[in-house]
Amino acid sequence: MKTHEAINKRTSVRDFSNKNVKFGQVMEAIDAANQAPFAGNINNLKFIIINEKENKNYIAEFSQQYWINESQWIVIVCSESKRLEQLYQDKGDIYGKQQAGAAIQNMLLSLTDQGLGACWVGSFSEHEIKSKFKIPDEWKIEAIIPIGYAKNKIQKKNRKNELETKVFWEKWNQKNRPLGYPHKDPSTN
Ligand SMILES: Cc1cc2nc3c(=O)[nH]c(=O)nc-3n(C[C@H](O)[C@H](O)[C@H](O)COP(=O)(O)O)c2cc1C
Repeated sequence: MKTHEAINKRTSVRDFSNKNVKFGQVMEAIDAANQAPFAGNINNLKFIIINEKENKNYIAEFSQQYWINESQWIVIVCSESKRLEQLYQDKGDIYGKQQAGAAIQNMLLSLTDQGLGACWVGSFSEHEIKSKFKIPDEWKIEAIIPIGYAKNKIQKKNRKNELETKVFWEKWNQKNRPLGYPHKDPSTN
């Protein structure tokens, strides 16, 4: 699958079939996450892989999102940015979050590429989940990613039409393309 095809296909999946997902597929997605760009090449992430039913139930309960129960695997993405903060002061915290986001997106694209469904879950009780899975105090949970095969055919919303409202030209809030710009959409040149 080409990169842009995976980007176009990725959508949040919250309805999973009971088809088995191999452990190797989850590891491939984590490998993709691990290849994200990291400031100063400092990888601030760890991944907890969850497969036991009782643990899935717990996460569903403490996210108040019961569809999570039906996933085959769950990955908890954790970050700790102390080293980044030492090196980059105020920027360290934001770098830590940015690179976690880049890694999570790599993971989602890898899962899409493998024909799997997943969803970035950010709403959960941090304290209860940290304590259940013995995550040390200084670590944060960046996201919880339930994974499985989609039960239904995936319908992706086309957001291409929104693009015009998302860009300014040469300066903030200039919404019209200046004269002399290429007639065609520059991205297609
Ligand atoms: C930081 C973050 C937190 C999110 N938290 C949740 C969540 O707790 N539960 C959920 O069902 N979806 C969650 N989502 C998924 C968004 O709802 C979803 O990405 C958005 O509606 C766009 O749909 P799409 O992913 O299908 O393109 C989260 C996404 C992000 C980026």
